[in-house]
Amino acid sequence: MSAINPRTKIVDTDILVVGGGMSGSGATWEAKFWCRGKCKVTVVEKSTLERGGAVAMGLSAINMYMGMRCRENTPEDFVRYVRNEFFGILREDLVYDIARHVDSTVHLFERWGLPIWVDEKTGCYQREGRWQVMIHGESYKPIVGEAARKAADEVYERVMLTHLLLDERVPNRVAGAVGFGVRDGTFYVFRAKAVILTTGGATLIYRPRATGEGLGRVWYAPWASGSGYAMAIMAGAETTSLESRLVVVRFKDGYGPVGAWYLLIKTRSTDLYGEQREPLPQDMMERYKSLYGKYAEAKPTPTTLRVLAVIEDLMKGRAPHLMQTQERLTTQEAINEGFEDFLDMTISQVNVWAGQNIHPQQRPSELMPTEPYIMGSHASPAGMWASGPADIAPPEYRWGPNRMLTVEGLFCAGDICGASGHKFSSGSFTEGRIAGKSAARYVLTQARDYRPTISSDTIERYKEVVFRPMEWYEANKGVTTHSAARVDPWFDINPNYINWFQFMTRLQKIMDEYVAGWSTYYQTNEPLLNRALELLQFLREDFRFVGAANLHELLRVWEFYHRMVVAEAVTRSILARKETRFPGYTIRADYPALDDEKWHVFVNLRYDPRTGNWDVYYRPVIHIID
Ligand code: FAD
Ligand code: ADX
Repeated sequence: MSAINPRTKIVDTDILVVGGGMSGSGATWEAKFWCRGKCKVTVVEKSTLERGGAVAMGLSAINMYMGMRCRENTPEDFVRYVRNEFFGILREDLVYDIARHVDSTVHLFERWGLPIWVDEKTGCYQREGRWQVMIHGESYKPIVGEAARKAADEVYERVMLTHLLLDERVPNRVAGAVGFGVRDGTFYVFRAKAVILTTGGATLIYRPRATGEGLGRVWYAPWASGSGYAMAIMAGAETTSLESRLVVVRFKDGYGPVGAWYLLIKTRSTDLYGEQREPLPQDMMERYKSLYGKYAEAKPTPTTLRVLAVIEDLMKGRAPHLMQTQERLTTQEAINEGFEDFLDMTISQVNVWAGQNIHPQQRPSELMPTEPYIMGSHASPAGMWASGPADIAPPEYRWGPNRMLTVEGLFCAGDICGASGHKFSSGSFTEGRIAGKSAARYVLTQARDYRPTISSDTIERYKEVVFRPMEWYEANKGVTTHSAARVDPWFDINPNYINWFQFMTRLQKIMDEYVAGWSTYYQTNEPLLNRALELLQFLREDFRFVGAANLHELLRVWEFYHRMVVAEAVTRSILARKETRFPGYTIRADYPALDDEKWHVFVNLRYDPRTGNWDVYYRPVIHIID
């Protein structure tokens, strides 16, 4: 290395938790408990534990809670609900496993100081809907993050991990991870017996609706860079259900969520002409039943169909959809609830109201479907393929400890674990606990005598790879049109490098136009997908020309590299499922119908890190709950 000479820090640990969001905090907290002083737990977070992750701004509800102590729901009920939501394609063992433990997580949060609304009549938590409970949640993440901070043996913040390390002696075995300090540029090497990936989902793979003013404003966290998926894919782990990208209906421009408005405040939404859209009208439901059969008959109507109704209206010129807030904000209580919902969780929506003179008590607010996100914790099952719990997983779903991926020693939780969505914040923390306990048992038993083998050559090679964008920039900055301060990445013209912003723009254009983004009304077909793969290949080749002027840009470069890897996996997954299973999320225009006879299977992928080839696997869906 010439111009850039970062110092290297090597850290040895037993359990490495990558990401300190909801699931990472749960994993850290629980792993430490089960280690009982006999193993070391290290958590690495690219921001901080107190405000890292999708819960950074706070939340207004906990969306997964059974209420078993009040005899409200059972885990079996929850599995049936998620089965309908995902049109039958789910890992019931994983969903059940979270559902049976989630209540204890919520009770812990309350004990740690999270204010949860209580129904004075029943003494039970105040419900938003059947599965959700209301919270005063601005400080949700600081409360949860503090528990992880107190539990961890070591915490590294402002450190972004970029690659997993595979063991050089044992095939298909994770040995640690590398990355860099985003503030001081230290090159970090973590050697570990078990690695738990908890880095959340992926936004900004698709061109967002906000492209100029408000650039980067999206519903899911803009820093959700798909790192965990990409690192696991590059290490050879199997993916699942990546064709099911999440699209949700949100308050326009501020991306305010709709759940509390429909379920708690009981607001109606309509199309432009005042025709009711939520709940869906009878004629629309009849049509969906004829197309999607029993899945469309479910109560509540699956998210994907509610989204489809909005997309269809957009296509027919019946937009904008309108949340008729003024019909319900007629009492002080409802006004308080409506405003608190956004002030707790999506402050930007209140800013839009203020900035655009929208008085929700007086006039409706526009709704809009988002650009697609890749997530395994919300109403979509995208993610990695994980081993299930010993007591309920059928043999087809069990090849190692609970939540271990198809790479030995590598675990997942939260958005990263696929085929098991609807976990939200509480379920993600719970799944982190499950993975943390499983990893602790693993390092104290099966992996007790394991020592990571990583050569110094490998460490040097990764150091070069990670900092190469800065080297490349240094070597070529003399011929740029802009100074190093480069306030405006749009107009930075250089014959030898592209910057992260230009790389991002190219990725988003490909994904939006070819792989069912919002500009094509979420539709695609086989020729479009094949062309996308060609263009993504060119993009991948051009990655060697990406330059980074400083550490912040280096962070952006690696975030978009990870997104590019995920983008290719998503494209290949959509290509492999020749039907339309999740109509409001992804429409295969060449196979517009759902075909349960042929396609009641998981679509999984594996990238071979040695050959660079991708394989598709169709795995069986095994239902274990009546
Ligand atoms: P996160 O909590 O996002 O954690 C991922 C962490 O990994 C982050 O801290 C991130 O900084 C870190 N990280 C990422 N990449 C790297 C890397 N390369 N190296 C190091 N660290 C990395 N849920 C509810 O229950 N109720 C709600 O009301 C609700 N509303 C929501 C509203 C909004 C606006 C949003 C965005 C989400 C909402 N959710 C809600 C969903 C909930 O936030 C997620 O389901 C949950 O946070 C997912 O947990 P996770 O651990 O998978 O990811
Ligand atoms: S959030 O994660 O950003 O809060 P959102 O507001 O869409 O998402 O949903 C919150 C919860 O309400 C989720 O559990 C979601 O599935 C549920 N939900 C939202 N809208 C409806 C609806 N119309 N009918 C039934 N459930 C809904």
